[in-house]
Amino acid sequence: MPDTRLTAPDTDRAFWTDWQRSWDRQQQWYLPDREERFRVMLDLVEAVTGPAPRILDLACGTASISGRLLARLPGARSVGVDLDPALLDIARGSHGDEPRLTLVTADLRDPQWTAALPAGPFDAVVTATALHWLDTEVLRRVYRDLAGLLRPGGLFLNADHSPQPATPLLNAALRAHEQLRQQREQADGVLDWQQWWQAAAAEPRLAESVAARSAIYRDHRDGAIHPVEWHTAELLAAGFREAGLGWRSVSDAMVAAVR
Ligand SMILES: C[S@@+](CC[C@H](N)C(=O)[O-])C[C@H]1O[C@@H](n2cnc3c(N)ncnc32)[C@H](O)[C@@H]1O
Repeated sequence: MPDTRLTAPDTDRAFWTDWQRSWDRQQQWYLPDREERFRVMLDLVEAVTGPAPRILDLACGTASISGRLLARLPGARSVGVDLDPALLDIARGSHGDEPRLTLVTADLRDPQWTAALPAGPFDAVVTATALHWLDTEVLRRVYRDLAGLLRPGGLFLNADHSPQPATPLLNAALRAHEQLRQQREQADGVLDWQQWWQAAAAEPRLAESVAARSAIYRDHRDGAIHPVEWHTAELLAAGFREAGLGWRSVSDAMVAAVR
């Protein structure tokens, strides 16, 4: 069911905005070019779907992408869907009075997950650093679901990890460089994933939803990380008209497909 709560139970905006920023900082510690990929993502959304798109922010977390989309395009609307109650609490608290954003709780592993969404179709589906959480068969089915949710000509963008086995020297050099950056940033107080979740659990206003998410993901194991070519072939098989590369770095890539 769409979550119709437009304001968080606790309306202290600064508190939730701080947690939103802290989430972004933690994610950026792993992905120093996170903002750059979001910019390219929104460039493509605007180019393909125009200035007033209706977006599905898939596995939205704290709705970081939706926040940037709505700030950039006043005519846009977004539906954010995720399973994590703590991240959705932060999304609600930090974007809660934004009438153009709807937040939905759903599990992509559930074949009926699209029933929880407001009626489609969508102009674009965007997702980042999330679909590698899914098993291969679930991801195949999600790709078919997305083909059904998008209008003809609609856009799908998936930015995620995408290592390149053919460039071991490049990969090792970048890894060493990144480790030094991460050490410097940790010395400045930036939290990694585990430390961030420990901090969230220690925050009384988040403790309950963090405990709930720990139970939900207790047995979680990441799925396989597939090469770009796998994604493009699966998207074409799922009914997309074309699929290719929208952006890439040494370690990550954004697959782009048109319905
Ligand atoms: C690393 S976070 C990325 C969140 C957001 N896209 C961002 O870039 O900040 C991965 C997200 O995928 C969500 N996720 C993983 N498996 C899911 C599932 N089966 N159903 C819904 N969301 C899921 C997690 O709850 C989490 O919010």
